[in-house]
Amino acid sequence: MRILVIGSGGREHALVKGLAGNEVHVAPGNAGMDGLAQRHPVEVGSPESIVSLAREIGVELVVIGPEVPLVAGATDALREEGIPVFGPSRAAAALEGSKAFAKEIMAAAGVRTASSTSVRTAEEIDAALDQYGPAFVVKDDGLAGGKGVVVTRDRSEAEAHARAVIAAGNPVLFESFLEGPEVSLFCLVDGATVVPLLPAQDHKRAYDDDAGPNTGGMGAYTPLPWLPEGAVERMVEEIVEPVAREMVARGIPYQGLLYLGAAWGPEGPAVVEFNARFGDPETQPVLSLLASPLVDALSAVASGTLSQLPPLKWEEGYAATVVIAAEGYPTAPRTGDAIAGENLADPNRVLHAGTDTKDGVLVSSGGRVLNVLGKGATLAEATANAYAEAEKITLQGSFYRRDIARKAIEGLIQPVR
Ligand code: GLY
Repeated sequence: MRILVIGSGGREHALVKGLAGNEVHVAPGNAGMDGLAQRHPVEVGSPESIVSLAREIGVELVVIGPEVPLVAGATDALREEGIPVFGPSRAAAALEGSKAFAKEIMAAAGVRTASSTSVRTAEEIDAALDQYGPAFVVKDDGLAGGKGVVVTRDRSEAEAHARAVIAAGNPVLFESFLEGPEVSLFCLVDGATVVPLLPAQDHKRAYDDDAGPNTGGMGAYTPLPWLPEGAVERMVEEIVEPVAREMVARGIPYQGLLYLGAAWGPEGPAVVEFNARFGDPETQPVLSLLASPLVDALSAVASGTLSQLPPLKWEEGYAATVVIAAEGYPTAPRTGDAIAGENLADPNRVLHAGTDTKDGVLVSSGGRVLNVLGKGATLAEATANAYAEAEKITLQGSFYRRDIARKAIEGLIQPVR
């Protein structure tokens, strides 16, 4: 099948690798994808640019990686042209694009989530801060690439973030804090049919022990040994299916990947957020364990035949990904530095995120530069294998977290039953 993947990060490298065996094109892609896919320039935020490229190549399926083209309406434009596409419509992608819309859907679907207040003016901030706390969850109600959330006990930090969001022209959402470890559950959704992938956990803070600023994600592992038996079924039945049915009832059926970010608290799962696309970096370890053809799963969603997809098969064991970030990430990442090391061209071990080539040399071009992958019979083995790959790479000033999956390995995340 001739397929076009839109995007340029580690998630898209994992998708491109998972689609190997097909004729894969990627736009704009990154330096690590050469050899797996043909790269093309595209304006990611422009539906017209994506449609025109898809037509020019004559693709049979477009897979949209990031949220920006979804919210801009790329899937609507492709479907109007009769081009099959994996990704929700603009209206359905509002589950990620507008936190307030997501709250409305959850309320209508009877899904457990944090209570919240949406604030549009600086004058309302003080009252909202009085209402929430002592832990403040303050969210940019727009697309912020996973970095628009501040969780803090420091009222002045919460206030500063709220003011910055409003100054940038977006509403700000104050939420009650949800107890419990977080789970990322990716679900293929086609109308009311939901097929979950393996559950994963991301590490969103920049530094070890969950210190430092929020990032797009610094590492992830899958599956989750601490999750109670039947947890995935509960998340599907209590959250994803009711939301999918509510979207159908409103005439905006969801067709793509619905990313459920849940907190597993004393009463079970509650929604922290939805995203309208695969998560990054969780996709990297999750897809590394998928034993069924990825193309069949994505095509079934695009063609509305997900209910006929045979059950997905998964490799036994665990997988972990560690993100190698550029100096200064996430606030002011330094780019343009040379990258050296082993296995940089082996997508089973290293997936690229922010890389480019300059005068024939591989250089950093973004904040999250590389994702190293490890698999193993145990989570400890998978993580050790990922760290062994990280040690083989040199990038001046770069850093990575040394504690990916550590709490899970040490049994410090208590199963809730
Ligand atoms: N890993 C967080 C995200 O993809 O939004």
